[in-house]
Order: sequence, then structure tokens, then C-alpha cells
Amino acid sequence: MVDPIFAQRRAVLLDAMGEGVLVLFAAGAAIRNNDVEHEYRQDSDFYYLTGFDEPESVLVLSTVHADRYALFVRPRDPERETWDGARVGVDGAVSELGAKVAFPVSELAAKLPDWLENAERLFYRIGRDRDEDEQVLRAIDRTRPRARRGATFPTQIIDPATLVHEMRRKKTPAEIELMARAIDITGEAHVAAMAVARPGMYEYEVEAVLRNIFRKHGSERPAYAPIVGSGPNATVLHYHKNNRLMEEGDLLLIDAGTEFGYYAADVTRTFPVGGKFTEPQREIYDLVLAAQDASIDATRPGATIEEIHAASVKVLAEGMVTLGLIEGPVEEAIKDERYKRYYMHKTSHYLGMDVHDVGRYFERGKPRPLEPGVVITVEPGLYVSATDDQAPARYRGIGVRIEDDVLVTAEGRRVLSDAIPRRTSDVERACRPS
Ligand code: GLY
Ligand code: MN
Ligand code: MN
Repeated sequence: MVDPIFAQRRAVLLDAMGEGVLVLFAAGAAIRNNDVEHEYRQDSDFYYLTGFDEPESVLVLSTVHADRYALFVRPRDPERETWDGARVGVDGAVSELGAKVAFPVSELAAKLPDWLENAERLFYRIGRDRDEDEQVLRAIDRTRPRARRGATFPTQIIDPATLVHEMRRKKTPAEIELMARAIDITGEAHVAAMAVARPGMYEYEVEAVLRNIFRKHGSERPAYAPIVGSGPNATVLHYHKNNRLMEEGDLLLIDAGTEFGYYAADVTRTFPVGGKFTEPQREIYDLVLAAQDASIDATRPGATIEEIHAASVKVLAEGMVTLGLIEGPVEEAIKDERYKRYYMHKTSHYLGMDVHDVGRYFERGKPRPLEPGVVITVEPGLYVSATDDQAPARYRGIGVRIEDDVLVTAEGRRVLSDAIPRRTSDVERACRPS
């Protein structure tokens, strides 16, 4: 039987819906080529509410239908299961997943109108998939004529994100535990990368070390494609090729996090492949570290992600002026955003089941205060392109980002990735294990 947490979430959601029916499709399988599919991962909302990881499934929750919880699933099929593995099937959807009723997914068109009947509000994410939209809109249309015999039909379509994503935004202790596990595994991988990286190795050899450690601890998959960028590649924000031969004097920027039990870690460390920062690298690194410290200090209940970003921007802009990367005065550099030449992204995003997790950042146009239970990243950086002839020559080709995962608590904050070396002396020690 699946963990009771999923039933608790459905109960909270049904309560929050007030009146209505929710229809949620599982993630579709994506074709890679011919009859080969990309690795499958369930849709996070779907998994959050069901604990079920099979494609071609549909969840229906209703406050008005007597059965309240239905699943449409792939039926058992011995021949297909020989090829693709076991399915839960229709009976298993009831006995294992706790659905009140279950049907083969091929019966969705026939059964869905019965579930929409008498529900005035339909919680459905319209516009994500045209084929799914078509199935739902057709079912609404088939429900309308029933009004002649007294039934009502959905007259409002509401994005379930308004409820489900708000639930997901604040993490429970059980969710934090899964995130902490993902982060601990990720930390072990980063420390191993520091210990192993050497001039003369390829970036992908370090990537292999990361992936090996993720998987060996039972992680299903990385939470996103690992970035392993050395030398000038550290200044490329979404570098993924990971195929450069590393040289003495390079910094290596690794942005890699694993997923564990459907929860993501998102951690970046930057370290010298030769084990020792050069002076210019250290100056940039310590500046980014100071910015990160300022943003972590600013993370507390009531603070906004905009304020946390502003704390990093202030420190970075001051440092850029001091290092001669941009012209002062600092207030002007912040106002006209000239610091963006070297710090072009934001400092924080929500973290959870998705690496860029769900939940509103603004409310009525205003940045939203953080509450205990929310997890964010704090990830300032500074990137000087190797070809930037406006920058002092000593800083060209240096890219640094430091990214940690921070839980907002009633008292302030807890840095969940605190055990992963971050200060230059600790990083250098990890690069030269005794
Ligand atoms: N790894 C993705 C990010 O840092 O947002
Ligand atoms: Mn991030
Ligand atoms: Mn990251």
C-alpha cells in the first residue's frame, strides 16, 4: 500500500477545492527516436497526489461524486509487461494506490462526463497539452445536455496550480527529510569531484564521478543536467557539453544536484583543479562568497526573494567597483544595472520536487514574503568572459558561482547544504585530500 501521505494531500486538496472536480494527467512518455523513449519521469503534481509513477494515467478527484477518487490507468497486459515491466493495473490502482474506483485509461472518454456532472468548477490545467485539452473539453461538451434532466456541468475552469502549487511551496518535515537526503548525496558527490579533479582530466570524467555517486545511493536521476565547466566554460551559465580537457590554473564550476524520492538538490561549487586558487580567482571567489553570506543572512520569514537578491547585488556591485570591473559610484551601478555585465541571473528560486519549484513569487504585483517551510537556493555568481576586453586582464575567463539550498525556519534559516566545503581554505583542503 502506498504511503498514507498521498491520501492526506488529496484530503487537504479536496477541502481546499470547496466544490468541484480535478482532472490531472500523468506526464506523457516522450519519444526519443523510433520506438525508443526518453527516460520517463512522472509529473510532479501527479506524483505528489498519487505516489504513482506510470504514464498514461489520469487522476480524478471530486467533491461531488460519491467515489471522490478515481484513477484511469493502463490495464494489466502480460505481453506488454514482458517488454516494459509490471503495471499496477486497474485492480492494483484500488488495492495498492487507494483509489476508490479505477478504470482502464481507454475508458476515459466514456467515463469522464459522469465525473464532470454536477461539478460547477473544473480544476484542470488548460493549454499544457492540446490532446489532453481536447479530451477534457469534449467531456464538458458531453455533460452539458444533461442539464435538461437537472444535472449541472462545469462552468468554470480553474488552474489547479492555484491550490496544488501552493501546497507544494511549503515543505513538510517528511519532505525536508527527502530533500536533505538528496542534498547529502549531492554533497558527497561534490566532495568526491574536488578530490578527483586534476589537470589533464576531461570534464566528463568528473561528471561520471558525480553521476556514479548519485546513482549508487539510490537516486533515480540527476535533478537537472550537470554543469561541469572548467576554465572559460565556467563563465557559460548553461554549459552542458562537459567535454573540455582541464588545465593547470583552471577553476572548475560544478552545478549538479541529484533527485531523491522525487525531491531535488541544486548545489554549485567552484574550485581550482590544481588545488590552489590563484590570487585573481581568490579575489573573485571571496567576493561571491561575501555576497552569498549576505543573502543567506537576509533569508528569514518575512523576507522576500527580491530582498535576498538585492543583498547579493549590493555586495557584488561594491566588489566589482573595487576590483575595477565596473565604474562607480556603487548606487549608480546598481540603479542602471551595469553590474549585470558580470552578474546576469537572479540569486534565488524555490526548490522542491522540481529544481525550479512551483509556487507564486509575487502576490498582487508585490514580492511575496517567505514563510517557514519554504526552501530556496542562494546562488550568487560572477562571470568574466575570456573575451571581455573591458575587464582587467587578470580577471578574464574567471567564472564563479556558489549555490546552497536554504530552508526558511521559524527562527530564521537552515542551510541544508552547509556540510559541503564553501570557504576557500575548506575547498582547497577538499581538493588535496590527505
Ligand atoms: N541548476 C539550475 C539552477 O541553478 O537554477
Ligand atoms: Mn539553482
Ligand atoms: Mn544550480
